[in-house]
Amino acid sequence: MTTSGNTYHRAPDSVAEAPVGCPVNRTWSPLNDDYLNDPYPIAHQLREQHPVFWSEALGHVVVTEMSDIEYVFTNPELFASTNVQDPIYPLCAQATELLGAPDFDPVAVMSNRPEPDHARIRVYTRRGFSKRRLQSLESYMQARAARLLDQMIAAGSPAEYVGAVAFPLPAEIVFRLIGFPKSDDAMIKRWCVNRRAFSWGKPSDAEQVQIAKGMLDYWRYCRRFVASRREERGDDFTSELLDAWEVDPGPERDPGATTGISYREVESVVYGISFAGHDPVTALLCNTLRCLLPRRDQWRAVVDDPSLAAQAIDETSRFESSQISWRRVTTKDTTLGGVDLPAGTTLFLNFASANRQPERFADPDTFDINRSGVNQNISFGKGIHFCLGAGLAKMEARIALELLVERIPSLRLVDGQEFSYFPNITFRGPDAVHIEWDD
Ligand code: HEM
Repeated sequence: MTTSGNTYHRAPDSVAEAPVGCPVNRTWSPLNDDYLNDPYPIAHQLREQHPVFWSEALGHVVVTEMSDIEYVFTNPELFASTNVQDPIYPLCAQATELLGAPDFDPVAVMSNRPEPDHARIRVYTRRGFSKRRLQSLESYMQARAARLLDQMIAAGSPAEYVGAVAFPLPAEIVFRLIGFPKSDDAMIKRWCVNRRAFSWGKPSDAEQVQIAKGMLDYWRYCRRFVASRREERGDDFTSELLDAWEVDPGPERDPGATTGISYREVESVVYGISFAGHDPVTALLCNTLRCLLPRRDQWRAVVDDPSLAAQAIDETSRFESSQISWRRVTTKDTTLGGVDLPAGTTLFLNFASANRQPERFADPDTFDINRSGVNQNISFGKGIHFCLGAGLAKMEARIALELLVERIPSLRLVDGQEFSYFPNITFRGPDAVHIEWDD
């Protein structure tokens, strides 16, 4: 791991300072308990105070208005995404040493790779999410979701939804998309589970070491897996990427290539996509239940007409997004929301604020599956890095919801439970959701 270049994760190299003239907030942090529990009223207050401000605890400029966030996303030459996978806080010496292993060398490929390479690579990765592939996965998703739900129902009410369905389902889908053998699922899930803490949390030294070991093991596993597919292809995303590499190895033939994909880039896509592809989807499945189940009229509407499931998922993505922030860094001196930002300023784009902005969404604190314009939410980003898996994520969540309303219309949240959230600045879904139903 280095502090620069195209390595997948870069260590923060210095303590950042507030840009001159930028309003400063000395108390708020997205890791504060009250914000983790319910970010929305606080995000609203922050936006009212200063649409753009410096958070001392985070060491980032916080951007709260939808129009400013959209401007950042659609001007990648001014606002680079190179920092999105980096740890926020410096790592301890032992974790740094572990990740300094000579063979820990994934390269930035998608969310954190600048142009023009990002566009070159996205040509090939986009194919993996084609309509054909999603359609071919749909029947697998249906079957897996049905099986997990049936097991949950057979075990009887009450149940815990994260463990029963919301965690295993998205992981299995993305692992089958990549082509990982089913027999490795449990091991891979163990390695990926703490990535949230590494790049978006504040893990203790001991936790950093444990996470670093998992990342190293996982990267080595990805390399062995890609090598096995190189020998023998399957009907999967990795094999398609390897076919593309064989036709045109891009930078391996010419460092300035504008087409093709290198072998190391194929390995790195596999490494990155497994986390991107399951953690926020687990949260989406849970957030959908948290939003719908207490609002019995809207739950009942979906029970009566399951074709409303897709709308319910879209409104959940706005109202209780599984991703409530993302990051960028300025490439040049620029101005945003009237604040001057020097080159190298790190930005925290606050989706929790923007997705509830009254100028964009009428009555924004009301959950309404019939809301118009809901897809203007920013939960999947915007512009050249727009989430590659948005269609897949929504399809999984829709299938799970359609099956739930069909099989257990009496479903409800267990009364009196308190929801806890894993401390991190970006991903948001409850650790556990206890549900019950009439037998
Ligand atoms: C509810 C689920 C999900 C949410 C909320 C989410 C959100 C996001 C966001 C906010 C970005 C950054 C966009 C930007 O910088 O403009 C992103 C990028 C990305 N997401 Fe997702 N995502 C989800 C599910 C998935 C799934 C299922 C996959 C793949 C299996 C996936 C793969 C990616 C990839 C590869 C990128 C980088 C795209 C690029 O840079 O070209 N995501 N996602």
